[in-house]
Amino acid sequence: MKLTLTVNGAEYTAAIEPRLLLIHFLRDELGLTGSHWGCDTSNCGACVVWLDETPVKSCTVLAAMTDGRRITTVEGLARNGVLDPVQEGFSACHGLQCGFCTPGMMMTARWLLDRNPDPTAAEIREAISGQICRCTGYENIVRSVLWAARHDGSDDDARP
Ligand code: FES
Ligand code: FES
Repeated sequence: MKLTLTVNGAEYTAAIEPRLLLIHFLRDELGLTGSHWGCDTSNCGACVVWLDETPVKSCTVLAAMTDGRRITTVEGLARNGVLDPVQEGFSACHGLQCGFCTPGMMMTARWLLDRNPDPTAAEIREAISGQICRCTGYENIVRSVLWAARHDGSDDDARP
């Protein structure tokens, strides 16, 4: 089938198999390997991207379901060569070790801060509760998002 969608502001048209998962379309067809494929069971959240404005686990979404929709991946967070404060926060606060969960964590964190610019640690933990980190114990992830909230001046222009 023919698929036309927008990914990180760029339009793509491709011929795909109806059974193709969005995570595989992004990684294998578009070469956007920032989103990770971690568990194959809908548990880990390493594959989280935005479908329009909503974080989704892209291993549970058929690429065919995104026809005419907008996808934003971790590659779309930085704009004009400037890292998003969430990315800066993970760097500043050592919010990652192996980094496998990080793209999904960042996408959920950005989504949260766009709706709640001053979240509590508990609210951050609730937002990322569908995602698993096997390395950090979550402490530095929460610190990273709090750091981003304090340094966030990025709510002034629309994302792709
Ligand atoms: Fe999608 Fe783990 S790869 S939830
Ligand atoms: Fe390794 Fe989160 S940093 S899984």
